[in-house]
This record gives sequence, C-alpha cells and structure tokens, in this order.
Amino acid sequence: MRRLAKPLAVVLAVVLAAGVGFVAWIVVATLRVTVDTVGEVEFDTPLAIPPLAGSRLVDGERVFDLDLDEGVSDFGRGRTPTWGVNGDYLGPTIRVTRGERVRMRVRNDLPETTTLHWHGMHLPAEADGGPHQVVEPGAVWEPGWTVDQPAATLWYHPHLHGATAAHVYRGLAGLLLVDDPVPATGLPATYGVDDVPVILQDKKLQDDGTLDEDPGSFQSAGLTGDTIVVNGTVGPYLDVTTELVRLRLLNASSTRPYAVALSSGDSFTMVASDGGLLTAPVELDRIQLSPGERAEIVVRLEPGEIATLRSGPSDTGDRMAGGADRLDLLQLRAGDRLTPSVPLPARLADPELPDPGAATRTRTFELSGYAINDRPMDLGRIDDVVTLGDTEIWEITNADGGSHSFHVHDVQFRVVDVDGTPPPPELAGRKDTVWVRPDETVRIALSFTDHASARWPYMYHCHTLRHEDNGMMGQFVVVRPGEEPASDVGAPGGHAHH
Ligand code: C2O
Ligand code: CU
Ligand code: CU
Repeated sequence: MRRLAKPLAVVLAVVLAAGVGFVAWIVVATLRVTVDTVGEVEFDTPLAIPPLAGSRLVDGERVFDLDLDEGVSDFGRGRTPTWGVNGDYLGPTIRVTRGERVRMRVRNDLPETTTLHWHGMHLPAEADGGPHQVVEPGAVWEPGWTVDQPAATLWYHPHLHGATAAHVYRGLAGLLLVDDPVPATGLPATYGVDDVPVILQDKKLQDDGTLDEDPGSFQSAGLTGDTIVVNGTVGPYLDVTTELVRLRLLNASSTRPYAVALSSGDSFTMVASDGGLLTAPVELDRIQLSPGERAEIVVRLEPGEIATLRSGPSDTGDRMAGGADRLDLLQLRAGDRLTPSVPLPARLADPELPDPGAATRTRTFELSGYAINDRPMDLGRIDDVVTLGDTEIWEITNADGGSHSFHVHDVQFRVVDVDGTPPPPELAGRKDTVWVRPDETVRIALSFTDHASARWPYMYHCHTLRHEDNGMMGQFVVVRPGEEPASDVGAPGGHAHH
C-alpha cells in the first residue's frame, strides 16, 4: 500500500494544483480590474496640437520629410523615453489635397527596423508601407503617389510584422488629412482652433516613468493602460473660442475601444467617418471607436461652458479589452465670448461608396484566436487574389469571445449590414476599419478600381495590434484579369536606400 500511496498522492497533488491554477486563471481573467478615472483627471495641461508638416514642391510633387527618431516625453512621471516623427512623440499632421502628387521621405533614425503605413489611403501597394516595405535603421524610404480620394481624416503608423504594437505604443503615429480642392462649406476648418485633432491613446507607466510594454500574462486581448494621453498630453484641456468646434477623433490605442460622449449628456454632430464626410450630419449621444477607427464630430458649446469628453463602457462585455472602463479624456473650456459659427449644412457630400449590387463574389473571413480562417499570417503567402475592376462582398465573422476590428488596406468600403441589419448612420459612410463584436457578422462591399500589382500585396487584419502582430492578418493582391500573383510576391525589395 505504501508503495502505491506515494505516486497516487503526487498525482492527486498535481491534479489539485492544476485545478487551482485553472480556477485562479478564470478568476483573474473575469475580474480584470475595471479602470475608472471619471472625476479623477486634473485637466491642467493645454492640449498639444500636432504641428502641420512642412512640405516642399519638387518637380511637381509635394515632398514631406519625416524623420523617425527617439525622444523623451512627460506623461506625469518624469522622463518617459518615447519615439516620434520629427519630434519626441507622435508626428506632425500631414495635409494633402486630392489630385496632387505627393512623396514621403521617410528616414529611420531609430535603432530598430520599422515601416510607415498610410492608413486609409488609396495608393499603389508598393507605396503602402506595410510589412514588406521595411525601412532599416539609417535608411530612407521614399514612396510617392497621386492623392485620389475625397477629404478625410486618415493616419499613419508603423506596420512591421510582429512589432506594430510596440512601435505605435512608443509614439509613432500621426494624422494624415486629405483635403478636397474645393473644401465643403459650413464646417469648422481652422486647424488647431475650431478643427482639432484628438488622438486617443492609453499608457501603462512604470514607477520610473518608462512605458510598460507588457500586456500582462492573462491579457490575450492586448495591452490596456490607465493613463490616457490625447495628442500626447496627459490631463488635457482645450480652450474653445468658437461656437462650434470640430474634433477629429482617432483611436490610436493598441487594444481599447472608446465610447465617446459628453459628460453633460448633450448630443453632438458626427460629420465624417474613417474615409470622409457622411452624406448628412448625424446627431449622436456617443460614438464608439475600436482601434484604428476615426470620427469627425462637431460640438456646440455655450459661452463659459466647461464640457468633458468622456469614454463610457462600450456596448459589449469585452472587459479584457477595456470595454467596461470609464475614462475622462479631454476638457473643453469655452470662453466667455465665442466667435459665431455658421450653422452646419444639411447635406455634406455625395457618398462615394461601392454598390453591393455590383458584387461578383463573396469571400468569408473568420476571426478567432490569432488567425483568420484558421491561418496565421504568413508573409510569403497570398491569401486572396482580387481582380482589378471588381466589386466584392467580404463577410467577416467574429468567431471567438474577443473584440476585433477589421481593417482593409487600399480601399474605403461600405458596411452592407451587421448581423443582417443595415448599418446605423455612423457606419453608413466610407469606412476602412469596422468593429466586429463577439459572435457578430459584418458584411462589407469593396471596389478595387485601380493599382493592380502582381508583386506587392495589401493587408487586411485585426487592428487590435497584439492580434495583428500575433498573426490575425492576411494578404491580398489586386491583379489584372487573367494575371497570376508573382512567385516572389512580397519578397523584401531594395526600395529603401542608405
Ligand atoms: Cu492601421 Cu494595416 O493598419
Ligand atoms: Cu491600414
Ligand atoms: Cu482581434
């Protein structure tokens, strides 16, 4: 008996320990501490406004110089080493006009290889800045293209496979605004005054001020932080001098969704989604943005009013992504005298949207774990071959309990329906990123009108950056009818030079 008892006890102990461990994991996973900073943020720092990027005209091209480098930032805990573009943290706001030829001169002065991707921009895949267009330390990469899309709030950020989350988190991101040659009338449009960038991010800071890049052992969702920075400012306020102020909201966080509302409960007006102006203004009480999404909203303030932009729980239970958190974001302080603003127009723009009725095929994408259709990202594999000129329906299903946002490069798409229901007005305009909630199916229509290349792929992926880094991404090429993808597709090319 004695001889048997000992191994049996060991087995029992192991089983017991495993059981306790499993229960502990469940408890930690479900009891993730909810962050609540409402009423606790001292809005004592003026909101930083990213400077407008300078440019020069060279042979008919508008050239921008973008230097990626290390810097130091103050997030309220001393010196925080950060990365920035032409500065210590984030990058300048780049403005381009539809119809013009542009060239980005990207110099990497960082100690690591990276890329710079133009999120939402319609351009040749070779210029896209995805994981194939790497820029080695010391190298310069100079993509160029002709801007061919309506006015919109786009953005730029690195896209190095496996390192996107870290590089964006350290500070590489900025706005990329497209203007129409003849701007829409009736919208606030003075940059930094009544037309203001609001880049939303969260940080996890160590006591010594350095950024904590570890999402934590139970955080498969990705990293969430309890310090909100807006345009890099902790505890930001904005002095408002006009009756109407237009805020260009960007969720540039790694993981967390935001459900942005005014503390007063007052409504605001949404005028644009990811890819440009809506057909008509939409009155909303709150706007939910998953990572990568943008919205332009117009807020009306009374003289002397103080309003707080706040993020409440989003309408899914994705606690692990921070969806249950309550966060103070930005204080708006209206002056005692406000410059009158013209009323918003009743109609904003003609929609430039794909026609789902013209679709010639449907593709399905199932998001689960760190894969799409059970395949993790492979830089050497083309997942989908699209024919130039085609309109397609893509059906995206979230097949696990996590929160995912689906982003497609190159095109702006139309959300056709969400679980079979037509999209709400805030999702009815041009989009390049869409939140796909647990068990939801979203159908989108996309038209691939130009920029064929058998050699250079575009990406589609989850914009929860850890999911993307870990493989929730795929590649497609757009080819001419009858053409096959090249055999050396995406092979690293010699496009960056020293
Ligand atoms: Cu915002 Cu593929 O990226
Ligand atoms: Cu993108
Ligand atoms: Cu995801």
